[in-house]
Amino acid sequence: MKRLGLHEIRSEYLKYFESKEHLVLPSFSLVPKSDKSLLLIGAGMAPMKKYFTGEALPPSKRVSTCQKCIRTGDIENVGKTARHATFFEMLGNFSFGDYFKKEAIAFAWEFLTVNLEINPEDLWVTVYLDDDEAWEIWNKEIGVPENRIVRLGKEDNFWELSVGPSGPCSEIYIDRGKEFGCDDPDCKPGCDCDRFLEVWNLVFTQFDKDEEGNYNPLSNPNIDTGMGLERIATVLQDTNNIFEIDAIHDLLEGICEKANYKYGEKAKSDESVRVITDHIRAMTFMISDSIIPSNEGRGYVLRRLIRRAARHGRLLGLKEAFLYELANKVIDSWKVEYKELEENRSMIQNVILKEEERFLKTLETGMERLTAAMDSLEKEGKKMLDGEEAFKLYDTYGFPVDLTSEILEERDFQVDMEGFQKEMDAQRTRAREARDDSDNIGWTGTNKTNVFEDLGEIDFKGYETTEVKDTKIVGILLNNERVESVEEEEKAIFVLNPTPFYGESGGQVGDKGTIIGEDFEIQVEDCQRTKEGTIYSIGRVTKGTAKLQNVTAKVDVARREKIRRNHSVTHLLHKALKEVLGEHVSQAGSLVGEDFMRFDFTHFESIQPEQLREIEQKVNEQIYESLPVSTDEMTMKEATEAGAVGLFEDKYGEKVRVVSMGDYSKELCGGTHVDNTAQIGMFKILSESGIAAGIRRVETITGLGAYKYMNEILEERREASALLKANPNQLVEKISQRLEEEKKLQHTLQELQSELAKDQVKGLEEGKKEVEGIAFIAAELNGVAVDEMRNLAEDLREKEQAVIVLSSVNGEKVNFVCASPKSAIEKGVRAGDVVKEVAKIAGGGGGGRPDMATAGGKNPEKASEAIEAVEGILKNLI
Ligand code: ALA
Repeated sequence: MKRLGLHEIRSEYLKYFESKEHLVLPSFSLVPKSDKSLLLIGAGMAPMKKYFTGEALPPSKRVSTCQKCIRTGDIENVGKTARHATFFEMLGNFSFGDYFKKEAIAFAWEFLTVNLEINPEDLWVTVYLDDDEAWEIWNKEIGVPENRIVRLGKEDNFWELSVGPSGPCSEIYIDRGKEFGCDDPDCKPGCDCDRFLEVWNLVFTQFDKDEEGNYNPLSNPNIDTGMGLERIATVLQDTNNIFEIDAIHDLLEGICEKANYKYGEKAKSDESVRVITDHIRAMTFMISDSIIPSNEGRGYVLRRLIRRAARHGRLLGLKEAFLYELANKVIDSWKVEYKELEENRSMIQNVILKEEERFLKTLETGMERLTAAMDSLEKEGKKMLDGEEAFKLYDTYGFPVDLTSEILEERDFQVDMEGFQKEMDAQRTRAREARDDSDNIGWTGTNKTNVFEDLGEIDFKGYETTEVKDTKIVGILLNNERVESVEEEEKAIFVLNPTPFYGESGGQVGDKGTIIGEDFEIQVEDCQRTKEGTIYSIGRVTKGTAKLQNVTAKVDVARREKIRRNHSVTHLLHKALKEVLGEHVSQAGSLVGEDFMRFDFTHFESIQPEQLREIEQKVNEQIYESLPVSTDEMTMKEATEAGAVGLFEDKYGEKVRVVSMGDYSKELCGGTHVDNTAQIGMFKILSESGIAAGIRRVETITGLGAYKYMNEILEERREASALLKANPNQLVEKISQRLEEEKKLQHTLQELQSELAKDQVKGLEEGKKEVEGIAFIAAELNGVAVDEMRNLAEDLREKEQAVIVLSSVNGEKVNFVCASPKSAIEKGVRAGDVVKEVAKIAGGGGGGRPDMATAGGKNPEKASEAIEAVEGILKNLI
């Protein structure tokens, strides 16, 4: 057996299959493209489903990859055992209608026994129950003896995802020796003990499983194989588990070093070290593929991994954020294969650090709360934490519910998941209700499927023209029903084929316009698309009765022009952001409307004003360069090779539309654009802000909008100048002067007020009285600010060594101040207590230190009564 490092095994494998005429592709992203059935890529074949089903043509009939994968089904067990992991790499070779069982088996056997020099005697294989063909190949052609070929059922030897390519499979196992196993003399692959380790799965992909669970035969049988890189590494490196593999062990050591801990000393701490070792790889790769922590979907998985790892860091005694540093170790080691890690290094660190810090801020208080909750469960002899409390921990302290549940489990408690879900739903409903629902006409078309299925594909003419003369209304939907006609004043959904109206998508809003029939007219207020791509217009009949008839459709051209400018500028902006802030910037969303454009993108700190100016200037330069805008249809592969950027989503179909602006920008886009960047006219950024961890937003305007904005500002400037009687270009100077003057006036005012107050205090000491041997002065003032009263009371207290109680009516309120000297405090006269009692009389409250306290009351007319009561109050306190 060859002893190879993790990274060496990977390259040996790919080299081998390259020598067998396979096209070696880099790993696909962890984020599935055009596949809503998966959250994350968890197998080598997952990103290539379309090649198996024939929906898309593969770049070669033989492909080989090393695919980054994440499976989170067993996340609670990661750390607890040394076998579970969320992140792993899968080596795979694939045949799309090319070779089949015979070659797949022969390749696998040769690679293991010749290239990796594994002793053939140590290898066992399994085949699907009735797959005699595979059995024969293993036995007759390869020479595996009968007693080392095991037939297993669907559970073990049939491979499938929820939907998509699937089929029977054959697996190769390594016999790690009796010492790893149980004592059953019949022990063989399929047994639950650790003796037989499955290393390679050869799937004979023959079916395409649909959403109803039917297995539809594929016209070409294919091959999909998967060998866990870490698995085979444990074999070749003769280690007991994945944490002892060279590159992974380095990570583990890095964590121990940081935590000043020696692996193996304490079982609980070992568990924490393993959790972090696994999760750090998962999070680094996920972020590198542009996943950002959030409360939904992939983002939630990432959040959970980071927070789980951060908590285990705490358990190891690490007080500060540390994961972001550790990510460097992953990048340094794995960048040999995954170049993107290096490019995204700073982004990866930033995202982790932000999320870690966010969580650490609330972790302590959240943990205290959770511990207290567990303590009281214990006292009450209960086992279940209620959903409301779990929700509170989630909502206020950022504890993913699964993390709460895991922590509870450590002390044998559970979460009431149903109750938690109820709270979540209630919050969602609140959020939904808060959203504006004004344009709801009883049907949210994008959620309904198939309602327009019979109408076929809609021919969109809006790229070339804004008016189609001889089109037809082919479908009408009124209050959820397909109808033939709609009366005047009614609002309904109209499907035209062909149509010049752009249905909202890719961030660009839908068109407005008019539909003109022989004796009716419809005002189109919006245009949308169904999930299947049917474009439909929402409109009100303004004249006559609208019917399924021939019509002329006219887009509101002026509005469309504005939208075009705003859309084209997103491409220039995207590019300029990358140039100024870095390649990590990628579009996270946009809203292209008629009056403004909003662009969201990944970036981890606020943008400096000078950077913002530079970005704006770059975009304007491209506008003045008058770059021609052109569109081309091409395959996704050609688009990628041409360096196009964009959201590679399913809606683009197999052929994608690539929009180029000179040599400056090339983007995948289905929107409508100007013909030349000069038509954009002008670009102005109005604001920049952060909208979520790692996501920034800019709001911008173009063309006439920018011109209008400039005029508004000039008008404001003119008005301000008129008010200040200043020349517009001396505005700033004039305002500074005025502010300076105001400051002086303020100062004078304060001085006067203080004089006034002093006048009122003059002679107060003459009112000094005594109660139980304690001197005190109680007096009413008027219109003296609290700060001033405080100063006065303090001065007086020192001078007279007496308890001072002052009131002052200030507008609708009365304020009280009490100052008490040390001698009085010792006898029980604390200023806080005095002022509290005094203020109570005037309908208020307050308190403070023993030597000085203030209070307020709502009833100024009670001020005198309150001051008269001072003597009695003091008596009571002494
Ligand atoms: N798709 C197969 C697996 O993941 C090879 O096991």
